[in-house]
Order: sequence, then structure tokens, then C-alpha cells
Amino acid sequence: MTPTFRTSQGGSAADPSVPHLILVGLPGSGKSVVGMRAAEIAERTFLDFDAEIERREGRPIAQIFGESGEHHFRAKERILTEELREMGGMILAPGGGWIVNPDVVSLLRPPSIMVYLKVRPETALKRMGKRQELRPLLMRADPAQEMRRLFEARRLLYEGADHVIDSEHLTLQEVTEKVVALAKELR
Ligand code: S3P
Repeated sequence: MTPTFRTSQGGSAADPSVPHLILVGLPGSGKSVVGMRAAEIAERTFLDFDAEIERREGRPIAQIFGESGEHHFRAKERILTEELREMGGMILAPGGGWIVNPDVVSLLRPPSIMVYLKVRPETALKRMGKRQELRPLLMRADPAQEMRRLFEARRLLYEGADHVIDSEHLTLQEVTEKVVALAKELR
């Protein structure tokens, strides 16, 4: 069965001969908003993994974690990643924990390129504001400590990206422009 996605349209049809551009980074690093805007400008199709998994499951991420566990969510991430092998030329925003399973990452990369939106855990948390309630992994007594823990556990994986964008000191527009430039290099 051909997989269907709820993507931002307006982008070129997914072209398997062009690598995907995958945005990685902590929750709150701006993957979804930057990805959506960059895709519009670069005329690429954008896919937000969490939104797509929520659509398929018919329930929000926090409920998926609560009712079926993180393992179930990670299995859904893997299935989605497998489907994306048949496609290309998209801007992808997987959740911040997608990076932790090398088997899953290697389904797409190479040939896809990975771009790390680098921010400090404190900044990520601050930018997320109230939306941190949507992240089940941060529903802890001390979300700041949990964010630092996630960062320490993942930082080397994130740093292994093909490109690192210092999103700490750049505006949303500047980060978006950098992503657009990288997307345009992929042909
Ligand atoms: C997660 C990040 C979330 C979401 C889930 C798990 C993580 O996505 O996939 O709550 O493990 O860091 P965002 O990075 O878009 O918040």
C-alpha cells in the first residue's frame, strides 16, 4: 500500500532521486516551525513526524506515551521513517528522540542530510514555554533537569549531523534562511 502523509503541500512532489533534509535537535529547538517555513520558501514538501504520528494514531503524543508507552511511539517513528525511504526531496522534522536509535537514522542517512538546530537546553525549554506540557518526557518534577539530561545523552548524536546551525544566537528568520540554502544545494 502506498503510504499517505499529511504534509504541507506547495512543495515539489517528493522526488526519490533527491535526498531529504532532516532537522534534528532538542524539543524546542525550532525544528517544526523552521522546517515548515523553510519548506515553503524552498518549495519542498514538509513532514512533521509527531503531527503525522498523531494523525495516524488519532490521539496526541502525550496520550500515546501515557496509554501505549514510549516503545509504541518509537515503533511508529520507525515505520514512518521506513516509508520515507521511498521518497525524497522533503524537509523532515522528526521528534527530538528520533536520533537515539542508529538503526532508524540509518534507514534514511545516507543519502539524506542531517541538520542540527543547536540550542542550549535552557533556551529550548524557555522557547517552548507552556508547550512543554505537550512533551511527555518533560512532565517531570524538574523539566529543566530532564532537558539537560536529554541533551547530555544526545549531544554527540546531534553533533554528528552534516551541518550544525547555531540557533542560540540567530533569529528564526536567519535559521530558516540557512536551512533554505542547504535545501537548495540538494538536487
Ligand atoms: C521527544 C520529542 C518530541 C516527541 C516526543 C519525544 C524526545 O518531539 O517526539 O515527545 O524524545 O525528545 P519534539 O522534539 O518535536 O518536541
